Amino acid sequence: MRVLLIGDIVGKPGRQIVVRAMRGLIEAERLDLVIANAENTAGGAGLTCANYRELIAAGVDAITMGDHIYRQREINEVLEHESNIVKLANYPASAPGKDHMLVTARNGVTVAVFNLLGRVFMRPVDCPWEAADRVLAKLPPEVRVIFVDFHAEATSDMQLMGRYLDGRVTAVLGTHTHVATADEQILPGGTAFQCDVGMTGPYESILGRRIDRVLETTRTFNPTHFEVASGDVRISGTIVDVDPETGRATGVQRLVVNQEEADRLAASVKAAASAPTVL
Ligand SMILES: [Fe+2]
Ligand SMILES: [Fe+2]
Repeated sequence: MRVLLIGDIVGKPGRQIVVRAMRGLIEAERLDLVIANAENTAGGAGLTCANYRELIAAGVDAITMGDHIYRQREINEVLEHESNIVKLANYPASAPGKDHMLVTARNGVTVAVFNLLGRVFMRPVDCPWEAADRVLAKLPPEVRVIFVDFHAEATSDMQLMGRYLDGRVTAVLGTHTHVATADEQILPGGTAFQCDVGMTGPYESILGRRIDRVLETTRTFNPTHFEVASGDVRISGTIVDVDPETGRATGVQRLVVNQEEADRLAASVKAAASAPTVL
């Protein structure tokens, strides 16, 4: 089976390319499950209820978040009640949301997904290693396919989490830096790993925000609004091939979808829908 994790969706450009391309992408890549990190979906900060519904309607099956999780307060309701979105598993028990989810892939296989936050250059949070152990201990034993989105800043932390969970989960894939790393691999125990799967949004930017604004504030300390940029929008993510019997990864591959490719994918779905049915 094939599972895609797409990296931090940034603002309207990120949402729009996901909505345009997702159905065609699911077909073209034969994806059984799509997980998306949506922590920057609402104007770059957090996720609104409407954004959540838009992504799910587009074909996203499961949503992970990050340090911006509670930037839109209205999402707390969704985090508490919906079964296809999680909070960070190393946030306090009292923080709104669930620490893992069990979702059914299109091939019928149950997939566990959870989200952890790193501790380097982040606000102090509980130990992500202990949180991973805690979540894994409570998963039903028959659930073999397990995806971890490790939302962290430091590549050393990411590598440590990969090694710590190697052989115990299907994939440890990173988000948060908004920059894809070229280190996708299958670790010796069968866990797919990559430090960061990259950003879904405008690449003519600084991590998705307008270059001039970020530069102005960084150079002069004069606060500006870090508006979401608009140019060169891409989906960035990673596809993992999985043996559902063992839960081990058998392949891992980076994915980039640019605007032209997204248009082609959208057109392929339209063409299929308008083709005459042959009985
Ligand atoms: Fe992000
Ligand atoms: Fe983040």
